[in-house]
Amino acid sequence: MTDTGSERFDFVVVSNRLPVDRVLAHDGTPSWKPSPGGLVTALEPVMRANDGAWVGWTGVADDDQQPFEADDLHLVPVRLSAEAVELYYEGFSNDTIWPLYHDVIAQPTYSRRFWDAYVAVNQQFAEAAAEVAAQNGTVWVQDYQLQLVPRMLRELRPDLVIGFFNHIPFPAYGLFSQLPWRLQIVEGLLGADLIGFQRRADAGNFLRAVRRLFKVQTPHGRVELPAAGEGRWPNSMSDRPRSVVAKHFPISIDAKAYVALVEDPAVRARAQQIRDDLGDPGTIMLGVDRLDYTKGIQHRFTAYAELLAEGKLDVDDTVLVQIASPSRERVETYRALRDEIELTVGRVNGEYGTIRHSAINYLHHGYPREEMVALFLAADVMLVTALRDGMNLVAKEYVATRGDDDGVLVLSEFAGAADELKQALLINPHDIDGLKRAMLTAVHMTRAERRTRMRALRHRVLVHDVERWSRDFLEALAAIRPRASAQAAAATED
Ligand code: G6P
Repeated sequence: MTDTGSERFDFVVVSNRLPVDRVLAHDGTPSWKPSPGGLVTALEPVMRANDGAWVGWTGVADDDQQPFEADDLHLVPVRLSAEAVELYYEGFSNDTIWPLYHDVIAQPTYSRRFWDAYVAVNQQFAEAAAEVAAQNGTVWVQDYQLQLVPRMLRELRPDLVIGFFNHIPFPAYGLFSQLPWRLQIVEGLLGADLIGFQRRADAGNFLRAVRRLFKVQTPHGRVELPAAGEGRWPNSMSDRPRSVVAKHFPISIDAKAYVALVEDPAVRARAQQIRDDLGDPGTIMLGVDRLDYTKGIQHRFTAYAELLAEGKLDVDDTVLVQIASPSRERVETYRALRDEIELTVGRVNGEYGTIRHSAINYLHHGYPREEMVALFLAADVMLVTALRDGMNLVAKEYVATRGDDDGVLVLSEFAGAADELKQALLINPHDIDGLKRAMLTAVHMTRAERRTRMRALRHRVLVHDVERWSRDFLEALAAIRPRASAQAAAATED
């Protein structure tokens, strides 16, 4: 780990979290561990390929960590105070935007104190990015925690090419319009040259918000901004007119890395050991999620418990392994969810478990990728039952892992992945009977059908990997605002 000093970078990624979190042992000794969630998993290979700088938070409040290099990545920490963590991260990001953008599965809190902190922290991130980006460089801002950064950054550095990618859904206008600061959020995003979404429907929802709020047309997903000072319509944030494009770019995974891991004999041996440790049941069902109310973990448990109650599944022959990695544990809705889930696990196991077998094997931990791949290999049925999810990379990871063309993916139509993974068993998780039918279909599916479906799914994920995602996005960004025009703009502004 070395100090990167005051270097400038042509390519800068800005996200709330860095790819590593600082963890402090009881005696205060610091170490680093991979951050949770799909965003950093997807972006890490992109950063390695582009040799850029990554601006983000270390996951610890009041951390004075200076820029450093870890594993060949240039990391530039943004310091968040304990108050900022509470109001900006736990508050506005995860108690307002997160539930609102996931179709109000939980009630969003609209707090002016949260909002003020969100504005201040977004300004902090914009300033940090402005400081490390080279003249005419490209800055790629990530996710819902930083929706004001594109505009703030453009005001600080009009020479930059700015992209934004939203990893979570963008809600229908009927819901989005609840947000007291909806205008500021849309104006913030319009600071970018290209705004990427997971699904076509998300881009459509955003464009509709633009049309409704500003009474303009958005032909072909393009928003034409006039020069500064022209009416209520948000100005281009420069003295020249400017185009912004909103479009879907479904994110993916580093599929090759998964394929390589499957070939590792140690991982394969571990998969076998997991099966043996579970008593080599006929069917292993698997759920892997951050412990989040968007993931539909309860719905999956309800369906499974009913199948046990009806004798359609038997604990002597089936087990459900549920990995629920700890997440946002200081936010009340998440605490309540954990209690609820753990109560259900206790009930289902108490009711249907035997001395030899528990019905649900529940693990509240995060695991390294090798262990995840071993679990994917061991699992006959993968359950992704999200009530709403931007993409759900776990679905793609499972598919990438199954080089044996086996295993069945049960996938919620409310996860972005459903747009691409059409050969999965697609379900509506609210329809418990439908979910139960799909689970039984998965358990009884013939080897031939499993093979046909998995082959098609794998083909999709291996071809449309994360490298292609970032290439598509960055090429589209360069096409909207080539660097030459960024240079010209900078020259005019000088
Ligand atoms: C999702 C979000 C990411 C976030 C991750 C983990 O994938 O899209 O922005 O980093 O969850 O959540 P956390 O709050 O722990 O960063």
